[in-house]
Amino acid sequence: MSQTCVHRVTETRDLGGGSFVLRVAGPFEGVQAGQFCMLRTPSDWPVLLPRPFSWFDVFEPGDAALRAGEVTGAATFLGKVVGPGTSRLARLEPGEDLIVTGPLGCAWPAVDAGAREPVCIAGGVGLAPFLLWAKQRRALGARVSILYGGATRHALAASGDFAAIDPDFHFATDDGSCGFHGNVLALYRDLVARGVLDGSAPVYCCGPDPMMEAVAKDCRQRGVRCVVSLETYMACGFGVCNGCTVHVHDRGRFAGRHYVKSCTVGPVFDAEELVWPAEVSHT
Ligand SMILES: Cc1cc2nc3c(=O)[nH]c(=O)nc-3n(C[C@H](O)[C@H](O)[C@H](O)COP(=O)(O)OP(=O)(O)OC[C@H]3O[C@@H](n4cnc5c(N)ncnc54)[C@H](O)[C@@H]3O)c2cc1C
Ligand code: FES
Repeated sequence: MSQTCVHRVTETRDLGGGSFVLRVAGPFEGVQAGQFCMLRTPSDWPVLLPRPFSWFDVFEPGDAALRAGEVTGAATFLGKVVGPGTSRLARLEPGEDLIVTGPLGCAWPAVDAGAREPVCIAGGVGLAPFLLWAKQRRALGARVSILYGGATRHALAASGDFAAIDPDFHFATDDGSCGFHGNVLALYRDLVARGVLDGSAPVYCCGPDPMMEAVAKDCRQRGVRCVVSLETYMACGFGVCNGCTVHVHDRGRFAGRHYVKSCTVGPVFDAEELVWPAEVSHT
């Protein structure tokens, strides 16, 4: 059940290139990987509405990774400065307060026992919903593969937060400064072609819309399930403003509907449920 509470900031870490990790003291209960929350500061918040953020990591009370002042647990958020709200969050200092509303939305689909392990594909801060996922899969003994793309190697700094889990990271950079030289979809195709990855495993994807659309199209052509986490604009975050509607196909669980609210039904969708921009321009 979602709550709105004031939490104490325990760390703000600058990752360079406008990216940052914010850490706050708990408690945070019932968070599932892939869900999000709404963030704002109680004072000097420069915009009207809170801003949606994925939970990056969550630590339960008693976790060995907790620090001083975090006896009730902690959570982290991975951010990228794009405007006034994210700029304010990046400038928070330890000891300041943060208002967190969550957990909100739905989680990544669970993996049935014996099913193929999903391949995670992330671009930029689209890496955020994968840390808690990788941690939970790792606790169940699964080996998680994460393909992570960015413009340069500096854009990939958030991968350092996965050190304790040690997933199989594969990096792609536009300038070739780290890992594969090219985009993350080209990296995925290369790894499948070389047999490094199982090309029939489902894909879980989060990143810029054009990247997710391209990954979804590639999966559709090969008959592979693709699940995406959308970063649609949101105002309220819990279903009252209609600010986050997304275009869906009138079938399956959305039969009789053309638009649904990403904040309550999503942000995680099967890619085949969505009407992607390229489909609209061809109809
Ligand atoms: C479910 C969800 C989870 C998210 N998780 C994260 C996260 O973990 N880390 C993170 O850094 N960001 C995340 N975002 C995006 C983040 O919410 C926005 O970047 C933030 O709201 C921007 O606020 P701002 O005041 O800084 O900038 P604004 O002034 O609101 O926007 C600055 C610029 O960015 C564009 N913009 C803002 N929001 C979006 C959007 N959702 N889609 C496309 N363009 C946009 C605006 O058009 C404008 O040009 C998430 C969004 C959603 C919906
Ligand atoms: S953000 Fe208000 S209804 Fe979804």
